[in-house]
Amino acid sequence: MITRKSEREITQMQAAADILVACHREIAKMIKPGITTLEIDAFAEEFMRKNGAIPEQIGYNGYEYATCASINDEICHGFPRDEKLKDGDIVTIDMVVNLNGGLADSAWTYAVGNVDEAGLNLMEVTKKCLDLGIEQAQVGNRIGDIGHAIQTYAEGEGFSVVRDFTGHGIGPTMHEEPHVPHFGLPNKGLRLKEGMVITIEPMINEGTWESQMDENSWTARTVDKGRSAQYEHQIVITKDGPLILTDQDKE
Ligand code: MF3
Ligand code: CO
Repeated sequence: MITRKSEREITQMQAAADILVACHREIAKMIKPGITTLEIDAFAEEFMRKNGAIPEQIGYNGYEYATCASINDEICHGFPRDEKLKDGDIVTIDMVVNLNGGLADSAWTYAVGNVDEAGLNLMEVTKKCLDLGIEQAQVGNRIGDIGHAIQTYAEGEGFSVVRDFTGHGIGPTMHEEPHVPHFGLPNKGLRLKEGMVITIEPMINEGTWESQMDENSWTARTVDKGRSAQYEHQIVITKDGPLILTDQDKE
């Protein structure tokens, strides 16, 4: 079911998002060669709990961690692990905060030490993809407008858009309708209405978009070993334009 959220529900989600944003800001400071993604995961879990929130990903379909930590050619749902991040890696940290039932979901790709120019460009283009997608999240536009804007830009820059994972509605559970693909045709699909809350979370690859699943049945990685980056925001469709709940830039 596609729901439109009340002002109260949006306020609750914003409170969860404030914790999530603060957590990402701390993680941004921690990411350095030598730290492990398991250490980052432990930090994130503790940060959420100490702020009265619950790491929503733990127990979700049997997932065991507060965060997903996807390194280099891992597209998404990488397991946090006891292995040091290396200079030049890129790592996407994705997490969902539950504060009194309000959910917030945001992923961010971080550079570990000195990343090569191609990697930095991949990150920059992926972030721009997110921004261009958000720009289309307007009352009266359609879902396809979001994906089309992202795909056109990403492919124009020589990258590819992951097909097998999409953005989604969120609240009261983590994954609600609608699906929000990061590719598609303009003026196609569901029409966006005031009060809908969705995530936009493009996963953009250096090489081909095709993914394969690891034996752990969770982690998706590129078939050609090219790197993948991802930025995710949770937004509300409002009559004044998209409201970014997980914005890291506002004070
Ligand atoms: N946070 C992810 C998303 O953006 C979902 C992770 S699935 C989980 O949709 F099992 F790890 F929680
Ligand atoms: Co999401």
